[in-house]
Amino acid sequence: MQVRQCAQQDVFCPVFEACNLVKSYHVGNVPIQALKGVSLCVQRGEFVAILGASGSGKSTFMNLVGCLDRPTSGSYLFLDQTVQSLSSDRLAALRNKHIGFVFQHFHLLPRLTALENVALPLLYAGYPRAQRNEMARQVLQLVGLSERIQHIPAQLSGGQQQRVAIARALVNTPDLILADEPTGNLDSYTRSEIMALLQSLHQRGLTIMLVTHDPEVAVYAPHRIYFRDGFIVEEQLFAQQYAAEDTIHVASEHSERT
Ligand SMILES: Nc1ncnc2c1ncn2[C@@H]1O[C@H](COP(=O)(O)OP(=O)(O)OP(=O)(O)O)[C@@H](O)[C@H]1O
Ligand SMILES: [Mg+2]
Repeated sequence: MQVRQCAQQDVFCPVFEACNLVKSYHVGNVPIQALKGVSLCVQRGEFVAILGASGSGKSTFMNLVGCLDRPTSGSYLFLDQTVQSLSSDRLAALRNKHIGFVFQHFHLLPRLTALENVALPLLYAGYPRAQRNEMARQVLQLVGLSERIQHIPAQLSGGQQQRVAIARALVNTPDLILADEPTGNLDSYTRSEIMALLQSLHQRGLTIMLVTHDPEVAVYAPHRIYFRDGFIVEEQLFAQQYAAEDTIHVASEHSERT
């Protein structure tokens, strides 16, 4: 898999810069301020976890970062482009080309095979069929699903479906992977497997930001951000990366014993 990397690893190389983002919703006449001034800069090659209680603004922030929505105020730069000034079409194009999304409920099309699901973004991007299938095959191999490419989602386990979803997010060689509770629907062993996969992708240079309420998932990310009530209340940076393989080893011993 190709990963876009900084030409010079030492230079300041942000994928996005959010500055004082405010997001307000209106339900009837009642205003709800979901974000109250959030600033965050994520560099190329980072692995970031967003944590916080339900309703603290995590998904709202992800939606702004993923160019799915625009802030009420503040500025948001994605790959040096000011998102507020882009038309909806330009925003969609930016999203499709540069961001891969992974969701808690996988969001696969039920009648399409794993290969067809993964190849779908390439169809929208205008690639010819043979190239689409070849690229999809390669990423499915990367996530360990070469043997399941002709299976439809109902014929796959939850963990395998999430691998297909991750492969689909990767197929366009995005600059950023955004994952909202990617392990929320999985058991603890499968959760460790998916986190090990994301960690190995990060080690290949991919930039990843995930939302989780689970501290055991957040340990995989060296950069952790804590949200509370629409604010960032704490930021932690760790030099050492948690060893995913150890968790899988321990989880596997545990499942053999029980
Ligand atoms: N489309 C919307 N319209 C109105 N209010 C919204 C909307 N989306 C979110 N909110 C409100 O904004 C606040 C933040 O919501 P958000 O979904 O970002 O929380 P979250 O941290 O992702 O929570 P969870 O962990 O439960 O997913 C909540 O009070 C929520 O009710
Ligand atoms: Mg949420």
